[in-house]
Amino acid sequence: MSSVVRCLLFLVIVNSTGKAVKKNILFIIVDDLRPALGCYNDVNAHTPHINALAKKSVVFKHAFAQQALCAPSRNSFLTSRRPDSIRLYDFYSYWRETAGNFTTLPQYFKQNGYHTMSIGKIFHPGISSNYSDDQPYSWSEEPFHPPTEQYRDSPVCHGTSGQPGRNLICPVSVELQPGKSLPDLQSLEAAKKFLREKREEPFLLAVGFHKPHIPLKFPREYLDETSKLIRQSYYAATSYIDDLIGQLLKELNSHNWKNNTIIILTGDHGWSLGEHGEWSKYSNFEVSVRVPLIIHVPGITDVPDYVKTNEVPNSSVHPSISNAIVELVDIFPTLVELSEAGDLLQQCPDTERQPTLCTEGVSLAPLIYKAGWKGKFTTRKKAAFSQYPRPGMYPTLKPNSDKPHLSQIEYMGYSLRTHTHRYTEWVYFQKQIFQPDWTKVVARELYDHTIDPLEDLNLADRPQLHDLVHMLSAQLHAGWRHSLATE
Ligand SMILES: *[C@@H]1O[C@H](CO)[C@@H](O)[C@H](O)[C@H]1NC(C)=O
Ligand SMILES: *[C@@H]1O[C@H](CO)[C@@H](O)[C@H](O)[C@H]1NC(C)=O
Ligand SMILES: *[C@@H]1O[C@H](CO)[C@@H](O)[C@H](O)[C@H]1NC(C)=O
Ligand SMILES: *[C@@H]1O[C@H](CO)[C@@H](O)[C@H](O)[C@H]1NC(C)=O
Repeated sequence: MSSVVRCLLFLVIVNSTGKAVKKNILFIIVDDLRPALGCYNDVNAHTPHINALAKKSVVFKHAFAQQALCAPSRNSFLTSRRPDSIRLYDFYSYWRETAGNFTTLPQYFKQNGYHTMSIGKIFHPGISSNYSDDQPYSWSEEPFHPPTEQYRDSPVCHGTSGQPGRNLICPVSVELQPGKSLPDLQSLEAAKKFLREKREEPFLLAVGFHKPHIPLKFPREYLDETSKLIRQSYYAATSYIDDLIGQLLKELNSHNWKNNTIIILTGDHGWSLGEHGEWSKYSNFEVSVRVPLIIHVPGITDVPDYVKTNEVPNSSVHPSISNAIVELVDIFPTLVELSEAGDLLQQCPDTERQPTLCTEGVSLAPLIYKAGWKGKFTTRKKAAFSQYPRPGMYPTLKPNSDKPHLSQIEYMGYSLRTHTHRYTEWVYFQKQIFQPDWTKVVARELYDHTIDPLEDLNLADRPQLHDLVHMLSAQLHAGWRHSLATE
């Protein structure tokens, strides 16, 4: 459907000069946050503020990152391109120099008259964002980095020995910390300050919280006595971030921004809390690639009618829970459409040379505007795609099999998540051309999510599932373009 027809369907807010008012965007990214949240039915989570946001938002229950590592995932969703297109699987290249001069999400908004601001961790710092958070392209002013981030790995954790150490688990007394603060507290203050400033133009405020990424350093009052310590600390760090998000939204609501600001909350990838014997990301398992994705659109997702009329298939708990399969590459085209900031993004063509502005995702706006759309013209995905590289067949310290450099990559695991299954194929990877060699398969994994949501039982070798494996393999090789279906 053309964008003209789409516009006719929408109620466009118009200001006194008769021009459409572009919506502001508050984009919250929480580092390494799996859906350990009350609004995702996690009974161990204490996250009242994110739950409250979820109540007036669409909650995407099946959202997936394209790679379970910070820099590749962030560069992927901030350009709406997949790791094989930005050619980044590690931390060590900058796409503008190695893949193409691709326009980023914040850059698009900046070019369309927005004031764009980066607070905390949005781009992964270092080479992958040219040591500058992609300045001068993406942001209207110098990105803010909390000064206390310099003590990230300092020996400031008090364990049982009484000596300050560099502990993985690190509940602290904030007033005894160097700088008497913590990075995320400083990011919150900077974000609140930004919201208090008067400005004419619309804004995109991106706030990247560092926790619950390890080390699990957080104010000790968030720790209360529950289960095992790492899990408990991960949840405590998540409660801490939830509290900060509550304060940020309170600030937003205390200004006139409330009615005209889209709020989006996500994580860059998941985290394994002991599942499959792992305490990390670095894999294609559901726990590593599944992320929270919550999108609030003022006047749409918070009006009582929406909740009544928005029929999202298969949702049993809350009417604005979506079970659609979505990917982080979808965020960029979605925010463009929801904000009415400018022209909609075109899908990237299947060619070697890529335009600087296009998307390898789809806009989720039709899913969100479903009430007004009567469920038509929705591009639904039959599957989400993720990938993870390895330097060899077995775990090694050198090279680090969890974080291989591009030059060390020998295998790539390509993973497909449908509504019912996860299918992963490990193949030789041709690193010079950033492509798999599908003829050289070294391993397969198949998990049936209808009976095995934790992915404990690999069914790939079962003879009776041979046809299914064959079908999923063909779907994986065909790529993401062939897993889109327009209803
Ligand atoms: C109306 O919107 C236009 C374009 O965004 C802006 O330049 C103008 O200042 C706005 N006027 C008022 C009264 O807000
Ligand atoms: C990359 O794009 C930016 C604007 O998007 C432009 O200013 C810059 O000149 C481009 N660089 C190259 C090498 O084309
Ligand atoms: C990356 O940063 C360097 C050093 O500041 C600069 O010379 C170079 O132009 C930047 N690359 C791009 C593509 O902007
Ligand atoms: C914002 O929304 C509230 C109700 O949700 C309404 O009372 C108020 O008038 C709105 N303000 C603007 C500026 O539209």
